[in-house]
Amino acid sequence: MKVTIFGTGYVGLVTGACLAEMGNHVVCVDIDAGKVARLKQGEIPIFEPGLEPIVKRNHESGQLDFTTDAALGISHGQVVFIAVGTPPDEDGSADLKYVLSVARTIGQHVDRYTVVVNKSTVPVGTADRVREAIADELAKRGASVEFDVVSNPEFLKEGDAVEDCLRPDRIVIGSSSERAVAVLRKLYAPFNRNHERTVVMDERSAELTKYAANAMLATKISFMNEIANIAERVGADVELVRQGIGSDPRIGYHFIYPGAGYGGSCFPKDVQALERTARSVGYDARLLGAVEAVNHDQKTKLFDLIARHFDGQLAGKTIALWGLAFKPNTDDMREASSRNLMEALWKAGAKVRAYDPEARTETHRIYGDRDDLVLCSGGYQALEGADVLAIVTEWKAFRSPDFNRIRGMLAEPAIFDGRNLYDPSAVEEAGLAYYGIGRGRSL
Ligand code: UGA
Repeated sequence: MKVTIFGTGYVGLVTGACLAEMGNHVVCVDIDAGKVARLKQGEIPIFEPGLEPIVKRNHESGQLDFTTDAALGISHGQVVFIAVGTPPDEDGSADLKYVLSVARTIGQHVDRYTVVVNKSTVPVGTADRVREAIADELAKRGASVEFDVVSNPEFLKEGDAVEDCLRPDRIVIGSSSERAVAVLRKLYAPFNRNHERTVVMDERSAELTKYAANAMLATKISFMNEIANIAERVGADVELVRQGIGSDPRIGYHFIYPGAGYGGSCFPKDVQALERTARSVGYDARLLGAVEAVNHDQKTKLFDLIARHFDGQLAGKTIALWGLAFKPNTDDMREASSRNLMEALWKAGAKVRAYDPEARTETHRIYGDRDDLVLCSGGYQALEGADVLAIVTEWKAFRSPDFNRIRGMLAEPAIFDGRNLYDPSAVEEAGLAYYGIGRGRSL
């Protein structure tokens, strides 16, 4: 099929590459001419495992192309995806200006039946607004062209995006038009080869499904962080509690890891946006507010532990930091807990020596050159001249370090394990103080 995708961010680029991989002819449109030129050269703007080879291969074979020409994109695609950003505006609701601007552009150029698909995470009711924007532009032109607007939210995770996209656990198609559903069923048929994963529903339910999924996942994390906060006060180990509750299949082992708080471009933004949507229809979503509040406090947790360790005297101290990205296998620093920690340390007069396998360039882009931040090219290099070590991101490379070597390099041997990676006794046996999240020893 001929497919057009507006927006070459995470969702747009991965979706485009995976649809091309399945044999579709995909054109990706972006207003950023520099980005389009780089993509044409095979340069991928983000670090995402497995993405580069499929972008390159499909671009070389002609299945995947990039352009800034919106009119060309619209005339190409039988299916036109909108996958542009929806940044939160000041009050926490999703800003739809980019989505609606693409909708208007579609209305200005569309000249035959087209299925317009909302892939971006958008508030309930956006499909209607997109439909109105297209119809409005068509009316201005005096044109009568049939089209449908479908909500087809994306559930990919950064770091696993290609895999999630090629092997989705569900495909949600929100549309009340049988014609549009038939087109999308055909497009997604290759992703449904061994069993049917498609769930068809109305547009609003599909839009809410996306927020409900992320809010549920964020709730699991904040719930476990709350249990961790109780555990450390009552002298229990949340890691044992996690294993104890995960064995109940109704709870499950996945996604109940306590830590330094959730970050990224989705959970913080989507929980806030859903809360805001609820408020706009007269409902006070107390649970969502609590999920947010717990996460907000959790992001200061490591700093509080470090400050307590030093009796509040952080000026002149140097903290080694392992991990900067909001989670492993990405270079994304959006809402990363490392930022809260570094900014609090700097404010208290401490210096940071940080190492992350992928996010150093991004960190430098955000913070620039500063005396109180050294970006190191290895984990042990970050320990040189440092007092203590804090871990914020659970990259595989940090899982089994040489504790004796760490002890030998730190001036005040202590590990602040923001992701509960280590066995506290193993760390303590090596002569280091251990602080984890909710492990009964941190208070
Ligand atoms: C999230 C969802 O997991 C995807 O299903 C969804 O499609 C995506 O948002 C989106 O809306 O686009 P992502 O933000 O890439 O994906 O990252 P996650 O793997 O969900 O991690 C989010 C944060 O939660 C990270 O900071 C991670 O460290 C934290 N986390 C995750 C925990 O603290 N504990 C856990 O048990 C799991």
